[in-house]
Amino acid sequence: MKQPFAITIDGPAASGKTSTAFQVAEALGFHHVDSGALYRAATAAALRADPSARWDEIAVLEAARIVEMEARKASFCPLLDGVDSEEEIRGEAVTSRVSIVAKMSGVRDWVNAQVRHLADLHDVVVDGRDIGTVVLPNARVKVFLLADVRERARRRLLQRLGREGNDAELDEEVAKLAKRDALDAVQTVPAPDAVMLDTTDMSQAEQVRQIIDLARAAGASG
Ligand code: CDP
Repeated sequence: MKQPFAITIDGPAASGKTSTAFQVAEALGFHHVDSGALYRAATAAALRADPSARWDEIAVLEAARIVEMEARKASFCPLLDGVDSEEEIRGEAVTSRVSIVAKMSGVRDWVNAQVRHLADLHDVVVDGRDIGTVVLPNARVKVFLLADVRERARRRLLQRLGREGNDAELDEEVAKLAKRDALDAVQTVPAPDAVMLDTTDMSQAEQVRQIIDLARAAGASG
């Protein structure tokens, strides 16, 4: 059987990985897999099981048994107890705790096994932090997205509030992103063979186009 085609998109928080990966997958007829959404789903499940957040790795993995991946047209999405819980997994309670959960090696193994299983069966675009280095080191195309932290904060606020943030909101978001960048620094390292894309001054459409061009040059047919 022909080995499925994998594209990895890694990079720091709010660098545009998830929306870019989805659009690339749609354009090529691949499936998008958001590894961060799995870390978020595990965190949300643990919070449901014990809102005091005094969990250890065993408690998180036990709680995460309610998480399953649903196949959609161009993506796989985590469900909690069979229900799409997008708002819950993107909320502040999860965002402020997910990097602690992502430090647990058993949780990393749990996410990585699911991503590898999907990549064994389907052409995929997977976004995260360590996909090109640890999870799918033989991926055919690897991209590392970079963007200035203030620009990342601006984009995240625009996404969350539906408008530009003011200076105070921007300062607060920059501080939150910098804190998460520091907690995630160990696993957020570009693969030696990754193409670095600084998107600070790039439009979403442009970064999607560049990755599609890389994929086609590497033999993707979509
Ligand atoms: O979209 P955003 O950049 O805010 O984060 P995300 O991709 O949803 O990932 C949420 C968190 O999961 C990150 O802050 C990391 O702590 C963790 N993560 C990770 O450790 N490894 C990955 N491959 C993906 C996410």
